Amino acid sequence: MTKAAIIGTGFFVPDNVVTNNDLTQWMDTSDEWITERSGIKERRWLKRDDDGFTTMSGAEMGAEAARMAIENAGIEATDIDQIIFATLNSDVFFPGNGVFIEDLLGLNCAGAMDVRNQCTGFIYSLAAADGFIRAGTARTVLVIGCEIQSTALDLSDRGRDMAVLFGDGAGAAIVQATDEADRGIIASVLHSQGRYARDLYGEAPMGNLKDRISAEIMAEGRHYPSMNGQMVFKHATRRFCESITEVLAKGEASIDDVALIVPHQANQRITDAVAARMGVGNERVFSNIAKYGNTTAATIPIALAEAVREDRLHKGDLIVTVAFGSGFTWGANLIRW
Ligand code: UT7
Repeated sequence: MTKAAIIGTGFFVPDNVVTNNDLTQWMDTSDEWITERSGIKERRWLKRDDDGFTTMSGAEMGAEAARMAIENAGIEATDIDQIIFATLNSDVFFPGNGVFIEDLLGLNCAGAMDVRNQCTGFIYSLAAADGFIRAGTARTVLVIGCEIQSTALDLSDRGRDMAVLFGDGAGAAIVQATDEADRGIIASVLHSQGRYARDLYGEAPMGNLKDRISAEIMAEGRHYPSMNGQMVFKHATRRFCESITEVLAKGEASIDDVALIVPHQANQRITDAVAARMGVGNERVFSNIAKYGNTTAATIPIALAEAVREDRLHKGDLIVTVAFGSGFTWGANLIRW
């Protein structure tokens, strides 16, 4: 039976490093607070020109990550017949960034779609890629997770709870059909609970408002993301553990079989709590939040690419990718590498 295997990964982060100390020039915060509450030491933010535009677009960052994934997979870009672009921010209101990737990589009119599932975007996208491949709709899928967060952060004291957490970056994976029985995506679980949508959301611009934005909305800072942090924290810890347990049961595997858990990088305290509850040592849980902060849909593909680069992921390993985020949405994938 045809299965979907990840055959190459890549990532791109901007050069510009913003440390916790750098943030103190804009807001009342400290390296101590950020480190203790989140584990983050620094993040990458794209530089901006005098008109406020970032020096690269999200699609351009995604294309850089994709080029590395294509090279590592040993395929030609034109082999890709489907693009799935996961992000909560596309460069323009519409269309989504997937089509810009089709153009930047010079693909042969490959299918392109965007998945707007915030921190769980890559989990949902891998499940979709798996479905496309198993159904015969596509053979080689480029999955990208990419975010520019730095343009939508409130750097005043009002926004400090959110602004210190997020970073820019992109990660990519080539998912391809394989007949190898012992390789590929084994199972995925996907969930949502819309009643909590407003506990972590970006309210504006709004499709149901004439002109989509107003001076009043901007003055009130409602175009910046907002979060009920402690509540998100509690739900996240619980849902991470539930998702891991559920996807393992679906794939008839045990936590002891798992070589590496690659969680969404939201907060080191969440990662540590999940590892402790699942009875897994830190050496089996990937973490790079100290360097990049939360890059939302990009965190898991960046982490996968770094895990490969750091020789922590090997062919035949059983891994779990897992995430929780805005929506609320959450889920996991069980993968034989
Ligand atoms: O990726 C999607 C999923 N996202 C998450 O999973 C994030 C979940 N939430 C969290 O990670 C944590 O709730 C935060 C890191 C956002 C906040 O940590 P916390 O331990 O929950 O802190 P808190 O919100 O309870 O705030 C404690 C204090 C408050 O001051 P008072 O009221 O105790 O005087 C805040 O005003 O810390 C203050 N504070 C800050 N102080 C310095 C909030 N942000 C900052 C800041 N620097 N940046």
